[in-house]
Amino acid sequence: MLGKLISHKTEGNEVKLTFEKGEAALRVLTPEIINVFLPRETKDHRSKAIEGEKAQKVTFTVKQEGEVLVVATEKLAAKVCDDFYVDFYKADGTLLCEDDRQGRIFTRQISEHFIEVLKAEGHEVPEASDFHYPVEVVKKMQGDEKFYGLGDKTGFLNKRDYEYENWNSDIPQAHTEDYRALYKSIPFLITLSGNGVYGLFFDNTYKSYLNLGKENEGYFYYGAEAGNLDYYMIAGEKMTDVVSGYTYLTGRTPLPQLWTLGYHQSRWGYESAEDIREVAEKYRELKIPCDTIHFDIDYMDGYRVFTWNNKEFGEPGAIIAEIAEKGFKTVCIIDPGVKLDEGYEKYDEGIAGDYFAKTPEGEIYVNAVWPGDAVYPDFGKQEVRDWWGGSQKFLTDLGVRGTWNDMNEPASFRGELPKDVMFTDEDMPLPHAAMHNIYGHLMSKATYGGLKKADGKRPFVITRACYAGTQKYSTVWTGDNQSLWAHLQMAVPQLCNLGMSGFAFAGTDVGGFGADCTPELLCRWVQVGAFSPLFRNHSSKGSTYQEPWQFDEKTIAINRKFIELRYRLLPYFYDLFHVCEETGLPVIRPLVLHYEDDSETWNLNGEFLVGENLLVAPVLEQGMTKKLVYLPEGIWYDFETKKPYEGKRYYMVDAPLDTCPMFVKEGTILPTFEPMQYVGEKPLDVLRLMVFPGEGRYVHYQDNGEDFAYRNGEYNLYEFTHREEDGAEEVEITMLHEGYRCYRKIEVLS
Ligand code: GLC
Repeated sequence: MLGKLISHKTEGNEVKLTFEKGEAALRVLTPEIINVFLPRETKDHRSKAIEGEKAQKVTFTVKQEGEVLVVATEKLAAKVCDDFYVDFYKADGTLLCEDDRQGRIFTRQISEHFIEVLKAEGHEVPEASDFHYPVEVVKKMQGDEKFYGLGDKTGFLNKRDYEYENWNSDIPQAHTEDYRALYKSIPFLITLSGNGVYGLFFDNTYKSYLNLGKENEGYFYYGAEAGNLDYYMIAGEKMTDVVSGYTYLTGRTPLPQLWTLGYHQSRWGYESAEDIREVAEKYRELKIPCDTIHFDIDYMDGYRVFTWNNKEFGEPGAIIAEIAEKGFKTVCIIDPGVKLDEGYEKYDEGIAGDYFAKTPEGEIYVNAVWPGDAVYPDFGKQEVRDWWGGSQKFLTDLGVRGTWNDMNEPASFRGELPKDVMFTDEDMPLPHAAMHNIYGHLMSKATYGGLKKADGKRPFVITRACYAGTQKYSTVWTGDNQSLWAHLQMAVPQLCNLGMSGFAFAGTDVGGFGADCTPELLCRWVQVGAFSPLFRNHSSKGSTYQEPWQFDEKTIAINRKFIELRYRLLPYFYDLFHVCEETGLPVIRPLVLHYEDDSETWNLNGEFLVGENLLVAPVLEQGMTKKLVYLPEGIWYDFETKKPYEGKRYYMVDAPLDTCPMFVKEGTILPTFEPMQYVGEKPLDVLRLMVFPGEGRYVHYQDNGEDFAYRNGEYNLYEFTHREEDGAEEVEITMLHEGYRCYRKIEVLS
């Protein structure tokens, strides 16, 4: 409690606030983004998520109105009261978000009755104040709030009535909705209520908690174990503005290389060059398109990172070159744990450079991961990131095209790293408690930088652990799911929420990582995978093999059908990534993102949009061959049959195992390629447009699909307009930008 607000001073974008018992500040970054800052640990922000100056030239007013200080832009007003309570209003005076003044009341956590029982049994009963966090902010619930975002959290799309933790966790058990934390910490929440929509981004890397009406439906709160209270109110007219505002702050997923949007095959269990060769040959033989094979930990020598297992994988790089001839790209896994092994180059280099985390007493901290005893690079130091980035050259020299960063929560087989293991945050020593949630982020940043330097292409990094903002450096997958229908069901809200939290390039292990996949589950999962930004089939050692041919002919045919569909839609996915780099809007989106006023969309867990106009409603239940689909306003056309459907209604549609219901909004133009086996197989010089009835406009992006030349203008932007005149279909093409070789032919599919 800071007591009375005594004075304030405006300096640039900042309003410095002096209270009886301390200092705080508001910072106006844009007309729609205001930061609330209470320094508890450091004077400044030291953000890992936000890089570079985000404060714009903003006109705002600061006025004392009685006891209240009002800081207002043309879009958003923050009213600061005593005790640093801050309430936010829209420009028209509508209340958006109000601090709770009552204090937390533990109605749900401990009932009166239970307290009596505890007392009667002679137990000590905790006081409500025992549950308070050193950093805490409690917001009043208006009543009808829905919550979205929060990255990879378990459960459903709308997070209302649940509680979560931000502490990157390696969870090998089945991820059920009672797990409060998984691998990622993205403390960004989107709130939708009758009064409007806004985002809250809590920028604090310590372990933190979000309780969204579970404790008490009268409020929701954020708490953290240490650090500063440092959060951002992100307002906007629409939910899409909030997502754009958040990604403006924390950065946007950059345009990837085109091949990364193809299909990937992986398995922890490809133990030799022979295993890899067989997989590659089988894909080509069966004519199932595939771009990438992932090499899991067995390609290394005794799980030593940046080494090669010559015994099983032959001459370093030979198998990579061999499969590259068939068009396959190789991605290799790299874990952060460096084997404690004198004489092993990486370990020796790290010791010589003083690159590893230490105990508080100054000894190198040792735990265990795949290679046995292992030590942890201190990625918070620039020189360590440079060293790690430079080490990527070992891989790129062998022809590797991307790096898969795993076990970077960081995972540890001998119990969690103690909170006081010492790391570094650039110029400042900080304990594991502060660095844990950004360990994966910093490792990804190092990897991105290294790959970019090594081959100049757009780096392809996949990470398991991350923090808000990691989307600038890496794509993500949702970790060790299992071959369970419940996990296929969870994949949809998880990917939608990751997308709304900035992570546009995300995927789940198609078919499930642990447990045994069935042919039916694989067929249904590939129907979700085909629309997931990252499309990778991956499974665990010890589980049933789940490449498409491990099952029957029907499974092969269904996998081929959907993987081919993905390749047909490649230009559409690529366009969506281009849009994402410009606006921050994700590739796959929950319907609520575009139809927030339609209450039917608020809890839709089983369907999603790809971009704005392609609606996918996969079957997510065993044995089911029908799907209840909700179509929002407008006319929608079945993707296959072109049958029209009137929106704002539910339909029960047929969905036998080889069918995934898909609908396209009136007037849509979808760019497609002819099917191919892999990116690079043939020149992509013909674009084929699928045109749906109605009037429409579509902007299509084209470049070399590989490097950064597009940032110097080497790209094309086409505008396609579609009118229906007297029933005759016509598409007009206008070049909005011309800086790259144009298509040889653009044809309209009938
Ligand atoms: C972890 C990863 C998994 C990988 C395995 C072996 O469990 O999440 O994807 O296959 O380690 O490297």
